[in-house]
Amino acid sequence: MCGIIGYVGPRKVVPVIIEGLRKLEYRGYDSAGMAILEKGELVVVKKRGKLKALEEAIEGKEYTATTGMGHTRWATHGRVEDRNAHPHVDCKGAIAVIHNGIIENYQVLRDGLIEKGHVFVSETDTEVIAHLMEEQIDAGADLLDAARKTALQLDGAFAFLVLAKAFPGRIVAVRRLSPLVLGVGVGEMILGSDTPALLEYTHRIIPLHDGDIVEINDKGYAFYSLEDGHAFDRTPMTVQWNAAAAEKQGYKHFMLKEIHEQPVVIRDTLYGRIDIESGHVELEEFQGQPVPDHISIVAAGTSYHASRVGKYLLEELARIPTEVSFSSEYRYQRPIVRPGTMGIAVTQSGETIDTLAALRLQRSLGAKVVAITNRPESTVSRESDVTFVTQAGLEIGVAATKSFMAQLIAFYLIALNFGQRNGTLDAETSAHYASQLSSLSQKCEQVLEYAGIMETIARKFYKVHDMIYVGRGVNYPIALEGALKMKEISYIHAEGYAAGELKHGPIALLDEDVPVVGILPKGALYEKIYSNLQESIARDSPLVVLADRKDKRAQAIATDFIPMPPVEELFSPVIYSLPLQLLAYYTADGKGLDVDQPRNLAKSVTVE
Ligand code: G6P
Repeated sequence: MCGIIGYVGPRKVVPVIIEGLRKLEYRGYDSAGMAILEKGELVVVKKRGKLKALEEAIEGKEYTATTGMGHTRWATHGRVEDRNAHPHVDCKGAIAVIHNGIIENYQVLRDGLIEKGHVFVSETDTEVIAHLMEEQIDAGADLLDAARKTALQLDGAFAFLVLAKAFPGRIVAVRRLSPLVLGVGVGEMILGSDTPALLEYTHRIIPLHDGDIVEINDKGYAFYSLEDGHAFDRTPMTVQWNAAAAEKQGYKHFMLKEIHEQPVVIRDTLYGRIDIESGHVELEEFQGQPVPDHISIVAAGTSYHASRVGKYLLEELARIPTEVSFSSEYRYQRPIVRPGTMGIAVTQSGETIDTLAALRLQRSLGAKVVAITNRPESTVSRESDVTFVTQAGLEIGVAATKSFMAQLIAFYLIALNFGQRNGTLDAETSAHYASQLSSLSQKCEQVLEYAGIMETIARKFYKVHDMIYVGRGVNYPIALEGALKMKEISYIHAEGYAAGELKHGPIALLDEDVPVVGILPKGALYEKIYSNLQESIARDSPLVVLADRKDKRAQAIATDFIPMPPVEELFSPVIYSLPLQLLAYYTADGKGLDVDQPRNLAKSVTVE
């Protein structure tokens, strides 16, 4: 939800802003803009459309400024137009603001400012910040004080940066709820919505906490409290990712690269956590934490689908009653948290606002809270009792793939660990499951080798309007996720259903124009799913079947057959996810769509 970047240092700032925005573009890409202090003047350039439009607007200009900030927008208030793009300025064009979040009381503030004679040019909530800053600075406040007094008038979520002509070489940033990270370089300071934008300059970062104000200038940085203005310090942490992770490395899209990274992600997430011989799963993160009696998982989007698999595994392997909720629903319900309940927030980014709020609610109701996240430096991680860091590495494609995989593996490990500790799993069963888990990475490699099959099948979907994905048991969430992937990037209406539910309504949609994708691994539910698939053939639906490569019966009913390596049903979600990701990828790419930046979406949803 919007990407923001700010820089003070010796470099020419415009390329720093453009490169930073390129790395943050996944957060929103409706418009892009920048504000710099160029030879004593505040220069603002902003354009609707992708970053390219901004680059074109400044092409050929030789800026020398070394202080500046940039913004890539995901529209909330105000249409996608130049005037609604950030930065926003005050009446005199001397103060610039960029913002991520939503100012809930902006209308009241705006009305009050208009009464005082301020002139607004945009429809955004953000513009009030620039005019409130103007009021403060006109009354004699310093940049820092003006930002603090302005922020105290705002309701809602925000991370904003301000820059003013009267205060050269300084940027002040304030955070409440929306993410913001400070990169501490040598002689240069950089602020960004997310760590990847900073990695080219430094690996030493400080994530801002709620209620932090930070000023960056040529001397360094200084933290202050939003509440009372007192100064304090925060210690930088070192992040390991290298800047190359943010490159496509020869793949056409980040999504394709990330799909192909999954065998390594599985190995990395298992690494050091599982003893293949004994099957023992050692999770340092949970040391000192008793095995819970109940589990309540909160998550959104793809993380929710991984959590649905997690529920199945926790109940099957550890016999712990587990519920899964959309965070956006959970936070507005009156959930019951019994003694012995563990809350688990599953979130790749660790910044999804609803998931953060749901976790806070769980915690306030007395649950121990665990974060399963790809971002150890995130807010959710900081606010949890236990953080299980998935080892997916940096994921740039907006459609989650490898982070989903890492979340699945995290659930296998946690379920096995809990099952071993509460006596549900004996040594022999544990060893068997451990060996199954360890074989998955290689099986995924096998599936990726025949990605070409998915590319061929995808050609049939270019003109399709509706699709149905079906699975059962542990693969029902995989059907949901497969359909979500297709929807997100190819804009085909796709629905995931529990195969047994097909006949209770969705079957009415089926005809020769509505393909059905069936997940049919060998296992206890095989015959049931097989019969469900027959029902769709009887309605003339083209049928794509994912099944064991030797499964002749499946081949016989399939219009298109996707051969899968042999795998036990319990572990099949891991490898059966891959062809569905590839089907969505090749469909979207074949339709000429922007795979890595699908319309209307953002990778990290930090507004409600
Ligand atoms: C957005 C992304 C999805 C993601 C969801 C939850 O909608 O586009 O890919 O699954 O947020 O994100 P999280 O970071 O909490 O896993």
